[in-house]
Amino acid sequence: MSLGIPAEPSALLNAVLIGDSCAIVPLLPSQFANAIITSPPYFGHRQYADESLAESEIGREASLAEYVGRLAGLFRELKRVLRDDGTLWLVLGDTYREGQLLGVPWRVAFALQEDGWLLRSEIIWHKPNAMPSSVKNRPTVAHETIFLFAKQANYFYNADAIREPHVTFTEESRMMGGRKHFGKPNGTPENGKNRGNPNLHRARWDQAFHPLGRNKRTVWSIPLGKFREAHFAVFPPELVEVCLLASTPEQGIVLDPFMGSGTTGVVAKRLNRNFLGIELVPHYAEMALRRIGEISTPLF
Ligand SMILES: C[S@@+](CC[C@H](N)C(=O)[O-])C[C@H]1O[C@@H](n2cnc3c(N)ncnc32)[C@H](O)[C@@H]1O
Repeated sequence: MSLGIPAEPSALLNAVLIGDSCAIVPLLPSQFANAIITSPPYFGHRQYADESLAESEIGREASLAEYVGRLAGLFRELKRVLRDDGTLWLVLGDTYREGQLLGVPWRVAFALQEDGWLLRSEIIWHKPNAMPSSVKNRPTVAHETIFLFAKQANYFYNADAIREPHVTFTEESRMMGGRKHFGKPNGTPENGKNRGNPNLHRARWDQAFHPLGRNKRTVWSIPLGKFREAHFAVFPPELVEVCLLASTPEQGIVLDPFMGSGTTGVVAKRLNRNFLGIELVPHYAEMALRRIGEISTPLF
């Protein structure tokens, strides 16, 4: 942990810097991180810091335009700190004001896009255990948005590390219907057009249906994380795990400029990656370091 910025980039590894990301990120080296995985405070939701830090805290801006502008400015600087082949995973929730949804995640996404970030994916994080609400005239919100951004068209992405199971296919179906069932009402490989056709050999199947599973989809159903010490929503470790495996090699570096309780660091340590966190509130930074310290797997 440090209150200043160490001159040596290696001293930034597996540390939590305490302070305002908008002030600290400009001091970080360029091309430093393989990935950024982060969730800034949402616009007009809860307050994390006491009044002495109110000016620096993101999420308390008087207007949505100010919030979007501030985040875009910070991410412009973070782009410099990210390697050219790196990616940004940005988790954002929306806000209701005066009876309507503001569309915050997409407003931020458009601002980043205008700033030169390549928007590669919109992922719906479905929360099966989302808080119930008393609303009676609209559905209860049970998701947040995760945006995947890159700096350039060619970026590190390990699709194989995050494949998910094929759903309807059995071992038997490997030799039967092939893909011809797609688009048919009630179509499955067993009742597809080429039903029973032995010419659909294994190699062709494997080409269509990867042996490690199908490519990760854009809806992730992950229950909310539990970490009792933090009185705010923390990342579920599984969410960080997916982003981290897809976007960093072993011993790569992940940066979280809104570290909170340190979930990004906890998962990084478990998966043999390095992390750097930044957190405005000293109490949370200490909590994060304590939590990360309790993970027994040594870093290298
Ligand atoms: C949504 S929480 C992050 C939770 C985190 N993902 C976890 O798993 O615990 C956002 C965090 O950003 C911090 N924060 C707010 N403004 C900040 C700023 N300007 N610089 C750094 N951290 C800030 C808050 O104190 C809070 O801990």
